[in-house]
Amino acid sequence: MAEARARQRGGNAEDVSAERLAEAGLRFEVDGEIATITLDRPEKRNAQTFATWSALARIGENLPGQVRVVVVKGEGPSFSAGIDLRMFTPEGVPGQGSFSSAATNGDTDIAQSVSKAQAGFLWLRRPEIVSIAAVQGHAIGAGFQLALSCDLRIVADDVKFCMKEPALGLVPDLTGTKPLVELVGLAKAIDICLTARTVYADEAMRIGLAEKVVAGSDLEQAVRDKIAELLSTNRDAAIATKRLLQGAHGRSLEEQCAAEGREQAARLKALFGG
Ligand code: CAA
Repeated sequence: MAEARARQRGGNAEDVSAERLAEAGLRFEVDGEIATITLDRPEKRNAQTFATWSALARIGENLPGQVRVVVVKGEGPSFSAGIDLRMFTPEGVPGQGSFSSAATNGDTDIAQSVSKAQAGFLWLRRPEIVSIAAVQGHAIGAGFQLALSCDLRIVADDVKFCMKEPALGLVPDLTGTKPLVELVGLAKAIDICLTARTVYADEAMRIGLAEKVVAGSDLEQAVRDKIAELLSTNRDAAIATKRLLQGAHGRSLEEQCAAEGREQAARLKALFGG
């Protein structure tokens, strides 16, 4: 059954075997309607590599159809210290190459690598699911962007968000710039990124980066509570509503009203139609 669903999405259940994911520093568990992805290299503060991103993409391709909520969390003291800094050395990460060698191969190679990496993040926004980042400690660079790729962020009071890329001479390129601007506004996004400063819990809550701040020991329970709330609504209505909300920014008021009408017509047909 899981294999059939995986094939339907163009995936392959073998790709998300515990062994293969462990090689990429990830764990993936599905419990009914809830899937949990755990960054599981705490001794390296869950630093991310090409393998992490391609494994995340494979999880997206193989996500069982019944899953409604995806939790992304990090083992240990930090959610994620961002990109594995070995990727900027000529040696790179064994078996995975490096950005510095990709840079000598030309723009097409780099653009392709970036686009492949982004696939690991993009699926977390699908209307069919709600993704929640449970964030404690450092969420730096790619770690910050992974948290931004989720629909909701529930954070521990020791959270430290930092968009470090500009300090390293780079830009944030793992899908994080758009949600950051949408969440906090252009001026605050410029401030956060171009200073590479740390955003602590109080500010994260105040500027809309976090939905909720709790003590570290309460993080798991806070996520469980939010999941229970999310699962209490009708799934098809939740999907249609998320689709509407996601599309709102790009539509005029009139277009949005028309989209609401179309979605509601489909809902009413499904609920009361013959
Ligand atoms: N890459 C590889 N290894 C890392 C790492 C990273 N990003 N972050 C931490 N580690 C390793 C450390 O080297 C150390 O390994 P050893 O025990 O073998 O020495 C181990 O994890 C523990 O690290 P610390 O002792 O430093 O742990 P800490 O809790 O005192 O500090 C930290 C945590 C503040 C996150 C600090 O480790 C740190 O500053 N890390 C680097 C952060 C960084 O610059 N990330 C890159 C951001 S840019 C990006 O992600 C995107 C992009 O460029 C495209």
